Amino acid sequence: MTAEIISGTEIRKEILAEIKEDVAKMKAEGKRVPGLVTILVGESPASISYVTLKIKTANELGFKEIQENQPEDISEADLLALIDKYNNDPEIDGILVQLPLPDQIDDKKVLNAINPDKDVDAFHPVNVGRLMIGGDEAIFHPCTPAGIQEMIVRSNTETSGAEVVVVGRSNIVGKPIAMMMAQKGIGANSTVTIVHTRTKDLAAHCKRADILIVAAGVPGLVKPEWIKPGSTVIDVGVNRIGMNEKTGKAILSGDVDYDAAKEIAGKITPVPGGVGPMTIAMLMKNTLKSAQYALKNS
Ligand code: GUN
Repeated sequence: MTAEIISGTEIRKEILAEIKEDVAKMKAEGKRVPGLVTILVGESPASISYVTLKIKTANELGFKEIQENQPEDISEADLLALIDKYNNDPEIDGILVQLPLPDQIDDKKVLNAINPDKDVDAFHPVNVGRLMIGGDEAIFHPCTPAGIQEMIVRSNTETSGAEVVVVGRSNIVGKPIAMMMAQKGIGANSTVTIVHTRTKDLAAHCKRADILIVAAGVPGLVKPEWIKPGSTVIDVGVNRIGMNEKTGKAILSGDVDYDAAKEIAGKITPVPGGVGPMTIAMLMKNTLKSAQYALKNS
């Protein structure tokens, strides 16, 4: 039987509609709306395109949105001063510094300068620690893992006691999603294994996964025979495998052989249209949460 498709495009719409409703409620109650500042350094086309989409989404939701476009040669001190300005701005709940940054700037220093309570990317070590502790401590989850967990929950996939295998151990996806799935809570309570390039028998681990989360960045890495029949497959890979000559757009492929896998899995995310569209929605959700938290504690 063909797998149920977990559509990130559809779930994203639901989440954005829920956020919009919450913002409307805040306005109706006379409260301020969530505030997001996006800091873009330089003119990399990829970064411009990501930031433009973030700004557009924030505006559509009724957030206060500030764009800080800074020149490629900005000094580290000036960038740190800019972050400090928004750390101290009571109308700003989220500070997003688009990565990568130019060579003269130490990424780590910049990310560590963001007030953890406004760190809607959840890259600050304090938020990494909070995620590890779990429960109420973890105000923000990093956006891609948060999107993955949301897709698992909203597709009614049983996670309690489930065997979850995470392929990949990056700081942005593999490590945090593994920890999130192992925590107590909704969409969690799983038994988690992380596998990576040094794992001896990748296939054997994947084959026993009730939920297989693949974030390796290797097109077609996961073969159909590695998939447990009826399992849920979340493909985080976004690999450019060619160019459509008619449209001039990149042809994207995930880390899983999708066409074959969808005949074996119970549920599966497509590429594109799967995890990708969820990331910005979760950034907006983090900004909303940050505002709600700040208003509650003011
Ligand atoms: N560059 C590519 N992805 C991201 C992201 O999720 N957050 C930030 N800040 N920069 C990025």
